[in-house]
Amino acid sequence: MIQRYENLEAVSQAAAELFAARASVAVRERGRFSVALAGGNTPRRAYELLAQSPLCDAVPWYDVHVFWGDERCVPPDDPRSNYRMAREAFLDRLPLLDWQIHPMRGVGDPDEAAFEYERELRQFFADGKPRFDLVLLGMGDNAHTASLFPGLPVLEERTRWVSSVYIAELQMHRLTLTAPAINQAATIAFLVAGADKAQPLKEVLQGPRDPQRLPAQLVRPADGELLWLVDKTAAARL
Ligand code: 6PG
Repeated sequence: MIQRYENLEAVSQAAAELFAARASVAVRERGRFSVALAGGNTPRRAYELLAQSPLCDAVPWYDVHVFWGDERCVPPDDPRSNYRMAREAFLDRLPLLDWQIHPMRGVGDPDEAAFEYERELRQFFADGKPRFDLVLLGMGDNAHTASLFPGLPVLEERTRWVSSVYIAELQMHRLTLTAPAINQAATIAFLVAGADKAQPLKEVLQGPRDPQRLPAQLVRPADGELLWLVDKTAAARL
């Protein structure tokens, strides 16, 4: 379902309210809330809003577990780190204990770090499916999401939950949840804003199915809900 908003601020407010609402229900019904965060720039403001009243008072933080949808293979204090961005935007200002925060390891061997993260997920989701209560995603202007970039072999992955990838155009290794892992979520929400996303968004949502070229099309929840929170500039061609 596509929800159009005036601007990024409104998209961020809606995303933060969605986070708080899903967290309250998950904790009430199952005693915990698991979320996989998006990286990049778009979600930062939503994270900041979650660390401020009134929303920070609406989230049962003591039962929240924070994961990442992808990570750049850089040290945790590197300006490119998605972990660092989330810590600065909200996590460092919240009453979360270390064991509630599950970063992907950005240093060392990427393949080993991917296997390590998959092991951590399989321990956390003991029933065999990575059913995150909420997965937040962004979308690049080439229709990538998480670190599922066009043309990569990982787009064909059907069994693993976490893979390491090499992004040649960025000359960077990354770790990413795979499409099968993302699609097990109860709620998946894309946050998309900016005119540079208008054409890829139109192709992803209204164009022919071509996930090799448009990886965001791989995101189709198995038995959950898919939301697109978009600002009007990104929705301009829909
Ligand atoms: C990352 C993100 C990535 C991001 C898109 C959009 O690690 O970069 O996970 O998938 O969501 O690249 O990035 P912006 O929000 O900065 O446009």
